[in-house]
This record gives sequence, C-alpha cells and structure tokens, in this order.
Amino acid sequence: MERFEIFLVAPPGLEAVLTEEAGARGFDAPVAVPGGVTVQGGWPEVWRANLELRGAGRVLARLGSFMAFHLAQLDKRARRFPWAEVLRPDVPVRVEATCKRSKIYHAGAAAQRVETAIREKLGAPVLAEAELVVRVRIEANEVTLSVDTSGAPLHRRGFKEAVGKAPMRETLAALMLWRCGYRGDEPVVDPMCGSGTFVIEAAEIAAGLAPGRARSFAFERLATFDPAAWAGMRREAEPAEVAHRFVGSDRDAGAVRMSSANAERAGVAQLCDFACHAVSDAMPPEGPPGLVIVNPPYGGRVGNKKPLYGLYAALGDVLRARFGGWRVGLVTSEAGLAAATRLPFAPPAAPIAHGGLRVQLFRTGAL
Ligand SMILES: C[S@@+](CC[C@H](N)C(=O)[O-])C[C@H]1O[C@@H](n2cnc3c(N)ncnc32)[C@H](O)[C@@H]1O
Repeated sequence: MERFEIFLVAPPGLEAVLTEEAGARGFDAPVAVPGGVTVQGGWPEVWRANLELRGAGRVLARLGSFMAFHLAQLDKRARRFPWAEVLRPDVPVRVEATCKRSKIYHAGAAAQRVETAIREKLGAPVLAEAELVVRVRIEANEVTLSVDTSGAPLHRRGFKEAVGKAPMRETLAALMLWRCGYRGDEPVVDPMCGSGTFVIEAAEIAAGLAPGRARSFAFERLATFDPAAWAGMRREAEPAEVAHRFVGSDRDAGAVRMSSANAERAGVAQLCDFACHAVSDAMPPEGPPGLVIVNPPYGGRVGNKKPLYGLYAALGDVLRARFGGWRVGLVTSEAGLAAATRLPFAPPAAPIAHGGLRVQLFRTGAL
C-alpha cells in the first residue's frame, strides 16, 4: 500500500471548509463528500493529517474494497485480505460495520465475519473494548475496509482538562475560525469564552503549533508505523513570533480560570489575556482590528431562550460601539437570536450538527 484514499471525517455541513484546509496544508486531491473529505496519500500523509489538520474529526485509511453479495462471499474475501500488511498480531482490534442498499443487510453479522477473518488469519485478538477499530462499510454490495488511524477523536488535542457547560469542540472551532478567514495573522477576541476554545485555537494557529503535537494516535499501533519517521515529523518547529493578542472574557469566574489553565497547558498562555467580566465591558486590545468570534449561550442547551434576546442585543451594541474595523463570527442555534444583535450578517451557510443542536455561523465583514 503505497498510495491510497485517506478519509478525513468532517462535521456534516463543514466538508467544504475542511477541503480548503486540507488543500492549504498540501494534501493531495482533496474532494468534499458527505461527512468528510477524501485525499490521496500514503502512511506519512496519514500521520501528518492526524498531526496537522485542525478541522478533521478522525482520519481513516482506506485499506481496500471488494464486492460481496452474501455473507459467505464476505467471509472468503475477508480471509484473503492481507491483514498482516497493516495490523499487528499482538494488537487487539474491534470491527464496526454499516450496510446500505446491499444484499448483506445485517451489520452485526458482517462485522463478525471480518472479526473471524482477522482473528484466524492474522491471529490478532478481537476485543469489544479494543482501541483500534477496523471499519467495514457495505454500500451497493461493495465492501470498503478502513482502519481508524486516530483513536480518540481529534478534537481531544490532549490539553484540555477543564471544560465548561457547553464547550465547542476544538475541531469545530478551528473550522469556524477558518470560515471567518482567520489564518493566524490578526488578533482574536471572544467575549463569552467559556473554556477558551476559540481563543486557544486561534493562539495555537498564530504560533504555528500542530494540534496533535502532544497526543498519541491509533496509527502508532499499526504494522505500518515507522517511529523514527514519525519522530522526525513531529519534532516541533520553533514557535512563530506572534505580534497579536488573543483575548477571552466571560462573566463566570470559573470559566475564566478554566480558560487560563487550558491555555497554560497548551503552551499559549503568554499570547492570551483572560478576564472575568460581562460582555458589556468587553474592549478590543490595542493595535489593529481582527476577528471577534463568539458563541453566546443558546436556549436549547444551556437554558431558557427568552432572556437571551437581551443578551444578544447587548453583544451587538458593544461590538458596534467599540469594535469598528473588526469582523464578527457568531455561532448560534437561532437565526432570531443572531438578528437580535442587529449586526450586518451575510446570509449564513447551512446549519451544522453540534452536540444534539444545529448551529449556524453568522459572519460580518469589517464593522
Ligand atoms: C456556549 S458558552 C461558550 C462556550 C465556549 N465557546 C467554549 O468552547 O467553552 C457561553 C458562555 O457565555 C457566558 N456568558 C453568558 N452570559 C454572559 C454575559 N452577559 N457576559 C459574559 N459572558 C456571558 C457563559 O458564562 C458561558 O461560558
């Protein structure tokens, strides 16, 4: 397996944004498909995707595919598959299967056939709690075998111990920042920062720190892993000189403590300023304008919706009065709440599923 298809999982609705990020980071032939982005490459690209992509939720390596019209055929072809080229006999695996528009319709039975093939042909233990996952997708009778090379989802950067009531996933925050045109060369303010996700992501991007620099990945337990090559890839570049500040505030003192602790662990505390005050006291840092990005409370998740209209209106007033020249990105679940800010938003893109809610990103040009 020199080159194969690599599948980058994206939150539905943000596939096009992840496609842009993958292209900008030099991945070959990125194509948006429902639920993710395909790129072409080999194992080094799989490692680099896990290490460097900020928006991908997972990285799957497509191992191969074949047709199977019934379980006996799946059984036979799965046994012929060269598992030893990818998996190790000493590393436990589990198999997850999905079936769509296929003669094989029982996902559990399909998974079990592939598990048996791996256990009997390779000798690897198959355990329900195994961290390494082989994915079997059967669609229109075509069986595609992939391995999840990430392990824990990639929004777990490995720094955040403290999270608030409704934290934004880091991968989603990174894609929102990207969508707002943020590339690391301007200041960023979040006046309702919660656990600090936007501010810390933005500071890491500015400093050129790879999101996966401190965590481990499932690919380290594959037969294809090359520890020396990985160590070389992961060796940290000198942090870039950063001229801008990354500012978070929240009226909740616990949230501000969390943000500071998270920034400290991520190694960007020196670039960030966190303060405890209400959004009505938010001020831009000195220097050129940049991006305000914020996800205020949304009714569906953190409480009742009615009082929120006043809060959104106050946010809009503050931004219009003090943040001239800044762009605004606002993430919320209700177009009506966004409208309550009376900020000049462009029409939003389609909603994005986030923690049981559908959220939208509302963006302005420079105020
Ligand atoms: C949805 S959470 C933000 C989550 C954050 N993006 C994160 O990733 O953790 C909304 C935040 O707004 C804060 N908040 C609510 N009303 C506020 C106000 N009037 N002034 C400042 N912050 C406020 C809450 O304390 C909460 O932390």
